[in-house]
Amino acid sequence: MTIPATVEPPRDCPLCPRLHDFLAVWREREPAWFNAPVPTFLPPEGQDGVRLLIIGLAPGLRGANRTGRPFTGDYAGDLLYDTLIRFGLARGKFEARPDDSLELISTAITNAVKCVPPENKPIGAEINTCRRFLHRNIERFKNLEAILTLGTIAHQSTVRALGGRVASHPFSHGGCQKIGKITVFSSYHCSRYNTNTGRLTTEMFVDVFRQIRAELDARSE
Ligand code: URA
Repeated sequence: MTIPATVEPPRDCPLCPRLHDFLAVWREREPAWFNAPVPTFLPPEGQDGVRLLIIGLAPGLRGANRTGRPFTGDYAGDLLYDTLIRFGLARGKFEARPDDSLELISTAITNAVKCVPPENKPIGAEINTCRRFLHRNIERFKNLEAILTLGTIAHQSTVRALGGRVASHPFSHGGCQKIGKITVFSSYHCSRYNTNTGRLTTEMFVDVFRQIRAELDARSE
């Protein structure tokens, strides 16, 4: 089946049968939830105002898959949105609801895989298939200067979407590399697991944002 070359997958995207079936199960179980590919979260000024794109793994079952907004409704969003506000990349109050007052500033947030995967683990074929949407999302931002990838999977899929080789652009926490005209920063994913185990501390995450802020400020001088 062919689907139109849109930036976001259609609500009933058939491209990954396992994810399509998983969503169908959750639509039955929780009809009030969003239960569809979660679209990119944009700042109020729209795509041309985006200088930084943050790329997560995939919607969390009871987070973005429930609410319809990336990193909204599960723990990962608490650290992410607090940090964005701290660095002037978001304003308002994050209340883990898509109708809270939070607004992004010059920033957009998306996921490497747009549909919630079972056990939060997309398989390789799903990551590869969904990359067309990641690629179109990157392409739509004509003023994009920087990307932050959260975790190895998001990092590798982003490198590929940018036409780079993963072997030449390996993931490392706190890493910063240029691919074409985009500066790609990488961080361990801000998941509850990573913060509970101490793999990622608030200070480590804040340090990554310090680098990003410096890069954006240097580019606007
Ligand atoms: N929520 C998202 O939207 N993406 C993630 O990677 C984790 C939680």
